[in-house]
Amino acid sequence: MDEQTSDKPAKPEDELSVSNVSVQTADSEDQWERLARKLSRKLKREAEKKSVWNFQNKIILFTVVLFIIGVITWTLLWLFIVQAESKDALYFVGLFRVANIEFLPEYRQKESREFRSVAQNVQQVMNLVYTKSAFSKFYKQSIVSDVSNNNNGGLLVHFWIVFVVSQAKSQIFCEDCVAAILKNSIQTSTTNRTSVGSLQGLAVDMDSIVLSVGLRSDYSSTTGTGTNCIHDLHGDRLHQHFPLDILVTSGRMICYFKLIALVGHLIRLSVASIQIEADNCITDSLTIYDSLMPIKSKILYRICEPTNSVLSFVSTNNLMLVTLKSTKVEEVKKFHGYFEVIPQEKCGKAILSLGSPEFEGSIMSPYYPSYYPPKCICAWNFQSPQKNLGIALKFHNYTISEKSIKGCEHGWWKINDHMYCGYYMDHQTIFRVASFVVNVEFQCSSKCSERPLLVEYGSYNLSQPCPLGSFECHTGLCIRKTQRCDGINDCFDESDELFCDVPKQDCNTSFLTPQNSLFCDGINDCENGQDEQGCTESVPCTNSTFKCKNNICFRKQNARCDGIKDCIDGSDEKNCSNTKYSTMHHRIVGGSDAQEGEWPWQVSLLFGGVAYCGASVISKEWLLSAAHCFQGNRLSDPRIWTAHLGMRTQGKAKFISTVRRIIVHEYYNSRNYDYDIALLQLSSPWLDTMRWLIQPICIPPTTHRVHTGEKCWVTGWGQKREADDETSALLQKAEVEIVDQTLCHSAYGFITARMLCAGMMSGERDSCKGDSGGPLSCRSKGGGKWFLMGIVSWGYGCGRPSFPGVYTRVSNFATWIHKYVPSVF
Ligand code: ARG
Repeated sequence: MDEQTSDKPAKPEDELSVSNVSVQTADSEDQWERLARKLSRKLKREAEKKSVWNFQNKIILFTVVLFIIGVITWTLLWLFIVQAESKDALYFVGLFRVANIEFLPEYRQKESREFRSVAQNVQQVMNLVYTKSAFSKFYKQSIVSDVSNNNNGGLLVHFWIVFVVSQAKSQIFCEDCVAAILKNSIQTSTTNRTSVGSLQGLAVDMDSIVLSVGLRSDYSSTTGTGTNCIHDLHGDRLHQHFPLDILVTSGRMICYFKLIALVGHLIRLSVASIQIEADNCITDSLTIYDSLMPIKSKILYRICEPTNSVLSFVSTNNLMLVTLKSTKVEEVKKFHGYFEVIPQEKCGKAILSLGSPEFEGSIMSPYYPSYYPPKCICAWNFQSPQKNLGIALKFHNYTISEKSIKGCEHGWWKINDHMYCGYYMDHQTIFRVASFVVNVEFQCSSKCSERPLLVEYGSYNLSQPCPLGSFECHTGLCIRKTQRCDGINDCFDESDELFCDVPKQDCNTSFLTPQNSLFCDGINDCENGQDEQGCTESVPCTNSTFKCKNNICFRKQNARCDGIKDCIDGSDEKNCSNTKYSTMHHRIVGGSDAQEGEWPWQVSLLFGGVAYCGASVISKEWLLSAAHCFQGNRLSDPRIWTAHLGMRTQGKAKFISTVRRIIVHEYYNSRNYDYDIALLQLSSPWLDTMRWLIQPICIPPTTHRVHTGEKCWVTGWGQKREADDETSALLQKAEVEIVDQTLCHSAYGFITARMLCAGMMSGERDSCKGDSGGPLSCRSKGGGKWFLMGIVSWGYGCGRPSFPGVYTRVSNFATWIHKYVPSVF
């Protein structure tokens, strides 16, 4: 075939010219010419053959390369998509109420045609909303996970929305933004006054829309690919106990209990006992939601610690979700409880007081003694039988005080048109209203369930509020005289304890020994001054101390030449060279450099690697600090904190531990820093071999009282100047004086019984920002034990005259500390 094609004449003119030439030339030449032509034709043919072969090769090669590139691109693309889905999928979980579709019992079955049809309808609407939004590029899908009836009518639709986003873009996603897209798509007519609008034909209640970021694990579990521990439980009989029990011995536990009550009713969940790891819900938790999906903003309560006392919680609708999680089950994890269907209660009523001198009845928070749900409103109208009788309200473990511009955290009260905020606390308080008609309104302000409230009521005589033998506190509360200044707050504003001098002891009845702390310290502790009599010789000083004239022994390094008169006669400051004095005293808030190992209980708490607060070592694995250091979502997460022990210079700790658990006092009040105390459990205890640099400080017992004028030490790495943001690298110490409580109260206007003031009224020495949570250490007389009398809490500026530092009064919390750390006493 090749031959034939090559023999074919090329062009007619060429043939002609060649034959012409051949006629005119000689034979030998002809032969040569023919040979040459043959050769050239052969060569030409071969060249043609070669080029065809090359061309074919090229095509094959090109196809192979193309194929390889295709495979690589496809693999990369596939990898990229899969990676993007697994790494950067963002999950949002939410709910809304659709008012124009009636609930059908078939919706309970996810496999039913009815459920699938309604779910598809909603999903299509959501697809339309998000594919038209600014997030359309990232939108992947919406999944309806539950459709239920509810007390407001129509359908309650629970859904997931999934976006696939690169890490860099994930920041633009926020709950509010995703919710806003949904809300903005709802058309509401101005003529129609309800909050229900049209979302592509669905009548969606605007006020019902809730949306928050969800967990991938919750997404896969509740949409059917994860755990199979999901129970849909329907309570169809009032007040019957439906048990909820779980016991896990190994592996991982993640269980969901969806509780649904009859329409028009509520769910009450009772937790009888729970055995889980106590670590701020990091590994184990029981979470109660006011919805059927784990929506963060619908959390009613979280239990992070084991408990055996019965706690109960009430929903705001006919549904509730209880999730029980444990990431690693090493010991047995148990939960025992039940739920009930209960009717909705109306809160408040009209009350006619009898006018008897005793408290005669009580009012309670809704669903008492259960924790009361959010969104409550109660109104009570009191009337006393005579115009000369007012109404007294006795709040149990709660108090109210005038509302400021800030909102209230734990409920707000309107009493005869005056607004008050409520606070939980550890004793009763009485509030008197000087009117015979009293209207009380209570509204829940928290988004979560709150501890139950009990308020007793009674009437009192307006003209003579106090019966004989009692005296009146500042707020009109009458207490028996013997109760004054007994360390117990009897008055609403605690004024019975606030204006007390430190009680002088009747030393005739107490046994005085040389060890007794009242002995020969230059301070008259006894009414008759007996403790300071005959004190010429006696108190022995150890090697590291020296003796002042009045027999007070001081540690040399603390007392000598530091510009502070430690001895009554000032002998510790005599014969000091001026240079030494000035170098020691250039520190702000009156501090100076601490020595290595001088404050072995001092701890620096680092938040995300940055020194943020102080703390004190109180046992092998427990620290005491201030509650305000851990206020806020991120700050309350123990995983972000590290504790640095046995440290003088920042960064040179002898022992560093992560934090396992933070326990903030349950009555901590972020508005006035009342109950500003927190316990921290270390992940690993410090070792005995570190004893020379790490040691616990003693917790003062409840009876241990500090005296005005007593000298104590405050330490920390905080700011050295109020206006100077820079903190100190070297641990600073400053000697401060305990300030009279009444004086401090008059300076600040609000000093509670859980606070104590220390510093100098002249303002020389003080703690400052960054020292918070750190110790106010006081040594018992005669160079004895060191006690943690205070925790750095707050103050007006730092070192300002007339405004001493305010500390948490630790002796008030001995019982509270003991509850968690029995080993410290
Ligand atoms: N609240 C501050 C802190 O967070 C402590 C302030 C102490 N102020 C004072 N004047 N003593 O570190």
